[in-house]
Amino acid sequence: MNKEKDRIPLTDEDRDSMLKECRSAYSRRTDQFTRLLQQSKELTGKLRRNFEGMVELLNDVIAQADPAMGGHAKRGAALARRVAYAMRLNPDRRRLVFYAASLHDLSLIGSPKEWQRGEGDAWTSHPARSAEMIASVENLSRLAAVVGAHHECWDGSGFPEGSAGEAIPLESRIVAAVVAYDRKILTGGSSPEDVVSELESGGTCDTAVLKVLRKIIHTSSERRKRGDRLLTLDELAPGMLLADDLLLQSGLVLFPRETILDEETLTRIRSFGKMLPEEGLIRIFSR
Ligand SMILES: [Fe+2]
Ligand SMILES: [Fe+2]
Repeated sequence: MNKEKDRIPLTDEDRDSMLKECRSAYSRRTDQFTRLLQQSKELTGKLRRNFEGMVELLNDVIAQADPAMGGHAKRGAALARRVAYAMRLNPDRRRLVFYAASLHDLSLIGSPKEWQRGEGDAWTSHPARSAEMIASVENLSRLAAVVGAHHECWDGSGFPEGSAGEAIPLESRIVAAVVAYDRKILTGGSSPEDVVSELESGGTCDTAVLKVLRKIIHTSSERRKRGDRLLTLDELAPGMLLADDLLLQSGLVLFPRETILDEETLTRIRSFGKMLPEEGLIRIFSR
């Protein structure tokens, strides 16, 4: 009580100066927080780009060891990313789909060809083995789960778990449909549209994913009809679509056809400069 009495009342100037001090301390803290947030965003972006670079590098290694498998992984990854985008998955899930399609057959690298054709116990265990390899890296459990389920089928006839329908992660259903499509296209004989129809009647793939895949294939064939253009590195711009696999002079697929160019892919393409064939001319689809 006495303490209350002893208190010296504040003047208006005192209050003003205290308020000013508070405001400037608040503003300093806000600036500090904004800077930290910006730094953390930049670091997250750097880490993401590093990881993407490592996935691309791994894909290049796969392509060197086994060009057919490398091509399958790269085409699958580019197409799976387009399907994920068309299905309006958020950027995080789109990246997950891209990484999973890139690395889905990781455990088959260097394996006997009969395994890769889908024969034997080693074939049925390859999704789990690929998932195990990925899960050995910290923080990749989600990616491992998507890869581990890339041979599960919508009708429950897949492996290793025999899961069905929506019990299979959507990311795995996208990868499954796209890589099944790519495998069938590689065996030749059928048109892209017929391959999708075959998959639809087979009942093993999610029809919602196949519907989107059909639309993308249709758009691509329309683009092909409209022709394409050869552009120099300087003429390339974000949003353009590769009309051919972009190969290095060594024959390595840098990016598969129908990759959508963005700032990151453009930076990577330009970094290869003289290693690109045809004096750096790139074939892109006309709009
Ligand atoms: Fe595959
Ligand atoms: Fe596979």
